[in-house]
Amino acid sequence: MEFYSIRGGNPLSGEVDIAGAKNAALPILAASIMSNETVTVENVPDVSDIRAILSAIENIGAVVQRVDRHTFRINGSRIQDAPVEDEAVKKIRGSYYLIGSLLGKYQHAEVTLPKGCDIGLRPIDQHVKGFRALGAAIRIEHGMIIAETRELAGSHIYLDVVSVGATINIMMAASMAKGLTIIENAAKEPHVVDLANFLNSMGAQIKGAGTDVIRIRGVQRLHATEYSIIPDQIEAGTYMFAAAATHGDVTIRNVIPKHLESLTAKLGEIGCQVEESDDAVRVVANRRLSSTHVKTLPYPGFPTDMQPQITVLLGLSDGTSIVTESIFESRFKYVDELTRMGAQIRVESNTAIIDGVTKYTGASIVAPDLRAGAALVIAALAAEGYSEVSDIRYIERGYEDFPEKLRALGADIRLLDTDDPQLDSRKALHLA
Ligand code: EPZ
Repeated sequence: MEFYSIRGGNPLSGEVDIAGAKNAALPILAASIMSNETVTVENVPDVSDIRAILSAIENIGAVVQRVDRHTFRINGSRIQDAPVEDEAVKKIRGSYYLIGSLLGKYQHAEVTLPKGCDIGLRPIDQHVKGFRALGAAIRIEHGMIIAETRELAGSHIYLDVVSVGATINIMMAASMAKGLTIIENAAKEPHVVDLANFLNSMGAQIKGAGTDVIRIRGVQRLHATEYSIIPDQIEAGTYMFAAAATHGDVTIRNVIPKHLESLTAKLGEIGCQVEESDDAVRVVANRRLSSTHVKTLPYPGFPTDMQPQITVLLGLSDGTSIVTESIFESRFKYVDELTRMGAQIRVESNTAIIDGVTKYTGASIVAPDLRAGAALVIAALAAEGYSEVSDIRYIERGYEDFPEKLRALGADIRLLDTDDPQLDSRKALHLA
C-alpha cells in the first residue's frame, strides 16, 4: 500500500502548473459520447477518477484514443446499449453523468448508482426530478439506476437545492430533448459553464450557464469538436493554501484568477499577499496569519472542496476562527487526524471552532477522502517533524503528480510502499 512520507518545515517556493479541472473533465468526457463524430478533448487531468470514466465509456463501446498524456479522441458512434457497471466506475461520483448523456442520446440509460467521497448524504433526487420532468421513467433496481423514455421533451425545472451534478445531468439530457428546457436555481460553478461551452461547441444550444437560469433548446444531433478543459480551481486553491500554510512564495500558473476570487479574498483577509496576473496567482506568506470566519456556499461562494484546506490553514493562524460547512454534513472527519498533529479544533454539528496553534507536529495520519487527504498533506508539510499519510488513493483521484509537484516546490515528500521489501531502509534514508 502506497503512502506519503513527509518531513515538514520547508516553505514552498517556486512555480507550479495546474492541470485541467477534474470536475469539468468528468461531465465533458461523459458528454463526448453524445456525438457520433470524433470529439477531441485537451487538458484532461491524468488522475484516477478520469481513468475510471474513460474505461466506463470504452466498456460500452466508445473508441477512446489517447493522443498524448492529456489529450483524447473519443468516438461514440458504436456505443452498445449496455449497462454501465464496471468496478472502477462504481467508486466515482461522476459516473452518474452517463445517465444524462446516454438518456439524451439514446433515450435509455442504465448506470450503477454512484458512490464517490464519503462526505455526507449524497442524494440524487434532483437529478431524478429533472429526468422525470423531461419525460423519462426512472427506476432503481439491483444497485442500478434505469432511465428510459420514447421521447425526451423540454420542460421547466426548478431545482430545490443548488446542485452541480443535477444541473449538469439535466443540461446534458435536455441538449438532445425536443423543445426548450429551463433550469431554474441552477448551479453556477465554472465546470457547469465549461460543460455548456463544450456542448455548444458540438452544436448544442445552451444559454445562461453561469447564471441561475439556464435555457437549453434541444437539437437532434451533436457534431465533432476540439475542446480544451478549464484549469482546476480546487487544485490551484490547494497549492495556494499550501503556500500560505508553509509561509512560502508560490506562483500558481495556468489558472483563471476569476475562478479563485473567494480564495484570494480569504487569503488577503488573513494577511497573505496575493498577486494576480492574466493566468497566474502568486501567494506569499511571510508572517503568522490571522483568524477569520468562513462559510462554504455554492459558487461564487467559498467552495466546500476547499473547506478542509482552509481549516488546516486557520488551525495555524492567530486567534479563533469559525468554519461552517453548509453543503455536506460529514465533511469534518479529518479533524480527528489533525488534532493528533496538535490542532485545537472543536466540531459542533456543521461548524468547526478553531483555536489557532503556533505549530503542528508530524504524525501518522489517514486520508479520509480526496480534499481532506490533500489538506492533511498540507498540514504535514507545515508541521515540525515527520509524518506518514496513508490511504493516498483518495488523493490520487483528483491531484495529478501531487508529490512530484510539491517536491518541485521544495517539499520533502516521498511516495513509499508498505509492500516494498526495502521499505525500512528507504524510510531510514528519508529520516536521516
Ligand atoms: C460536486 O458534487 C463535486 N463532484 C464535489 O466535488 C463538490 O463538493 C460538490 O459538487 C459541491 O461543489 C463532482 O463534480 C464529481 P451537489 P455533487 O449535487 O454534484 C444536495 C471533489 O472533492 N443534493 O452540488 O455530488 C447535496 O446533498 C468532490 O471533487 C440534493 O439534496 O454535489 C449537497 O448538500 C467532492 N439532491 C448539495 O445538494 C440532489 O439530487 C450540493 O451537492 C443532489 C444534491
